[in-house]
Amino acid sequence: MLKISALKVENLSENCITDRQPNISFGLESSLKEEALKKATITVGNWTYETTNQINNIYTGDLKPFTKYDVHIKVEGKSRELAESITSFMTGRMGMPWKGKWITDGSYDFPDKESPVPMTFCHKFDVKKKITRAWITSTALGIYELMINGEKVGEDYFAPGFTSYDHQIQYQTYDITAMLERSNLLIAIVAGGWAVGAFNYVRKNKINADRQALLCEIHIEYEDGTSEVIGTDDNWKVTEDGNYRMAEWYDGETYDARVDLDKLVWRQATVTQTTKNPNIVAQYGNSVKAQGIMKPISSTIAPSGEVIYDFGQNFAGVINAKIFGRNSQRIVFRHSEVIADGELFVKSLRTAKATATYICINGEQTYSPRLTYMGFRYVGVKGVDPKDIELEAFVLHSDFEEIGSFECSNELINKLNSNIRWGGKSNFVDIPTDCPQRDERQGWTGDIAVFASTACYNFDMSRFLDKWLVDVKSEQGFGGGIPMVVPRAGDNWPPLANSCWGDSCILVPWAEYLARGDIQFLSRQYDTMKKFLKAAKRWSAFLSFTPNSRYIWRFPFHFGDWCAPGETTKQWLKKGKWVGTAYFANSCAIVAQIAELLGKKEDAEYYRNLRDKIIKAYRKVFTDGKGTLKNEFQTAYVLPLHFNMVEGDERKVMTKNLDRLIKEAGNHLTTGFTGTPYILFALSDNGYTEAAYDLLLQDTCPSWLYEVKAGGTTIWERWDALRPDGTVNLGEVKEGKSEEESSGGMVSFNHYANGAVGDWLYKRIAGIEPTSGGYKTFKIEPIIGGELTWAKGSVRTPYGLVLSEWNIESKKFSISIEVPVSTSCTLVLPNGENHILMSGRYSYSCNC
Ligand code: BGC
Repeated sequence: MLKISALKVENLSENCITDRQPNISFGLESSLKEEALKKATITVGNWTYETTNQINNIYTGDLKPFTKYDVHIKVEGKSRELAESITSFMTGRMGMPWKGKWITDGSYDFPDKESPVPMTFCHKFDVKKKITRAWITSTALGIYELMINGEKVGEDYFAPGFTSYDHQIQYQTYDITAMLERSNLLIAIVAGGWAVGAFNYVRKNKINADRQALLCEIHIEYEDGTSEVIGTDDNWKVTEDGNYRMAEWYDGETYDARVDLDKLVWRQATVTQTTKNPNIVAQYGNSVKAQGIMKPISSTIAPSGEVIYDFGQNFAGVINAKIFGRNSQRIVFRHSEVIADGELFVKSLRTAKATATYICINGEQTYSPRLTYMGFRYVGVKGVDPKDIELEAFVLHSDFEEIGSFECSNELINKLNSNIRWGGKSNFVDIPTDCPQRDERQGWTGDIAVFASTACYNFDMSRFLDKWLVDVKSEQGFGGGIPMVVPRAGDNWPPLANSCWGDSCILVPWAEYLARGDIQFLSRQYDTMKKFLKAAKRWSAFLSFTPNSRYIWRFPFHFGDWCAPGETTKQWLKKGKWVGTAYFANSCAIVAQIAELLGKKEDAEYYRNLRDKIIKAYRKVFTDGKGTLKNEFQTAYVLPLHFNMVEGDERKVMTKNLDRLIKEAGNHLTTGFTGTPYILFALSDNGYTEAAYDLLLQDTCPSWLYEVKAGGTTIWERWDALRPDGTVNLGEVKEGKSEEESSGGMVSFNHYANGAVGDWLYKRIAGIEPTSGGYKTFKIEPIIGGELTWAKGSVRTPYGLVLSEWNIESKKFSISIEVPVSTSCTLVLPNGENHILMSGRYSYSCNC
């Protein structure tokens, strides 16, 4: 039987509210083999659209503000079987001018490098007639929470989300029909958040505005056909004396439950304006929501007397405490990723205090921060008897679907995969961050450049990455450079083009395209990619005087082999020209493919030629032309091998050299962020499968399984964040300083970049790899080794579920696979046997 699964509007199965012509997609399931879509008819009101595609169906009909549209879809399979389904979406404001005005407390100011005290706004309004529908649209400069009659509106954290506020701000729409009474009190709390609060490691504040501001409209439709809009204006009231005494990303939150809003002296709000003129757009990313509850696995009393709760997992989130308290009792919750000498180890948080403080009233009460989050595994609690508190925590991250799974017969690899997934979740809190705990949590572009592909196997990243890439596009420099962090949010470095971090404008949309097949999205990003490559070309030619050196990318600077173990920052940066040149060639290859997909043949030809020149330069300048580098290091072999820059014997020699370097390092990698994601591919795709498995299974430092064995529950920024002797690494020690005096450096225990090896688990162990956008065509080609006896991987693609499940018994390899309707799979067995398979479930076996 044919069935429509996952009918989505703008990549959401439900509750889509949009301001743009939405994209409609659907998956299909069938019990028949070799089923495919023959045609589908999509009807929205009087708009009818016939299509043979399951993705990229853009609704081009009429859109009116705040209107519900039903989507009806009928499909016919090649088998002639029929199926139908319905969903709906809502429109947002559709450009409707705001009646509400931006309001603030014009009299409020706060010092440099600090975050403002959260503002509390209030407004009372009456509803005199019977209502049919009521909703709020709202946004803020800062982050906001709304409450109607004491109840929280919606489930979002950190609305309106983090965007490049000078260019775009999202607004949210919440249905409040069921919340309204005759007399109503709306409370809005606006904390500094990213726009106004201290942010980035220099704690710059007032980045987008001098103080918080709120923009809000309450829309009410009455049964008698009339309607009303109540907007923010100077009749609204404001105070900084509310319950939230402090809230910010790094230091945490202070909440005083004793404050009674009814007894406060309120001021009139002031009407204000935004300094820039950003687009205020219906939310197009995923909002951050509580995704799960964590319970402590143990608690101990530290020598200092603090009670330390261990949640058993490093994650981004907030505590949720049920407390039996007495008036004015002050309870302090501190957070850390690791424990040293029985105490919370907080030095690696650098200046971040990561502390929540709660001041009680009498009796039973609950507290959970709403205007900050922390990255932690341990919570230290002071100020309450353990018997008077029940502690748990909420995991917070953007609300995307988990679509991938991977498991195999080696438990350590399974734990590694779990750590990779937690690394992803912890760093997908509205934007892709480098880490969730210390005084950083910024949108470092290089980290997501290398992790995007792994992320897209595990999660449906479509809305999350689409949102972030809008900001990448907006913040691209005039000269084509991509900022090192996006949104820039106070980062003062000029957006000069550099490799990997800058290549994120190509690597991220490409990973997302392969996973979801959204061609619109590639086309929206295309100009950004071209501009970036133009900048790379211009910089490569800078101060270069020979024909080949014109394609060696040295300037203005590169992060190079960032975080390569056993080296200093200076040494990482010094390897920039190898890394820069290889990434440049790879990006040209990808943009050539994208140009083909967009029908831009001339561009495709141009980037292929440019790539050839870069490759020639890499080989001439850096190697002897036969596969040996003049200056050898692992990343400089990994990149040309994985980016297909060498062929034939030269390729063989390069792989042999790489293998030698790994062996010389005691079977360890010495690659940084830019090489680590690809090292196993460089080996396994060139005949060194066992070497790849050996490296994956290495368990002494530096290695992935070293972290697992050392008790890591996420991926670390430095392989030796926890040293083999059990001490915590404090980062690079500056000349003339002792380790104790060091700043705490770059020692995050939750940094996903090195988790990019997740890609290899899916692509090579489970063997699943898309060969065209959205898995319309894909490959399943598991490579066996490492004494694995079974593995299983699955990905819920836009067409349906792809599954690969294999095992080895008595030297016989058997595999079961699932191919979604309308797709085709090339299955390659370990003995080289090939099968081209249309949809269905299949099983094969061979000797191995
Ligand atoms: C971040 C990294 C980032 C790097 C680049 C660090 O502080 O945490 O992940 O990519 O800086 O300089």
